[in-house]
Amino acid sequence: MTGGKVYSFEEVTKHKDRKDCWLIIAGKVYDVTAFMEEHPGGDEVLLACTGKDATADFEDIGHTDSAKELMPKYCIGEVDAATVPAKLTYAQRSDASPKKVATSGGSGGGWTTLLRLAVPALLLALALGLQTYGKAKAE
Ligand code: HEM
Repeated sequence: MTGGKVYSFEEVTKHKDRKDCWLIIAGKVYDVTAFMEEHPGGDEVLLACTGKDATADFEDIGHTDSAKELMPKYCIGEVDAATVPAKLTYAQRSDASPKKVATSGGSGGGWTTLLRLAVPALLLALALGLQTYGKAKAE
């Protein structure tokens, strides 16, 4: 069942108890109250995913297809995307990657930073090595 109802983010976040628990996954709203005790991952994780867009949490677990097949049973509608705070949306997270490329400061990215740290460290090690070697030779 995919109820055609559209809920505001605020409305969904009101349902955050063991006996009344709604989740937002991929823009859809799920009333998992009846599923809390059956959920193989436990009820605590489901409760921890209330009050936000739980898409990333759900995907990170790598739920199987049979888990996904269960979902329509609990779907009660959709969330009004315009009411979801920007920093809580899943899309915002994936939008961040192109920006990262642009601000990494030219070619090399991580390598440049690594070299900047490694070169002085190597010079220091060389200087200390030579000093010890010189002392040992003088004795
Ligand atoms: C309607 C929503 C959900 C359904 C129908 C669902 C269903 C399932 C099912 C059937 C499993 C057993 C393993 C599998 O078949 O993948 C599972 C495991 C699990 N789920 Fe969910 N799940 C839902 C939401 C979530 C959310 C939002 C989280 C948050 C992190 C979560 C965390 C977990 C964890 C930690 C496991 C255990 C994984 C393991 O032990 O390997 N689930 N879920």
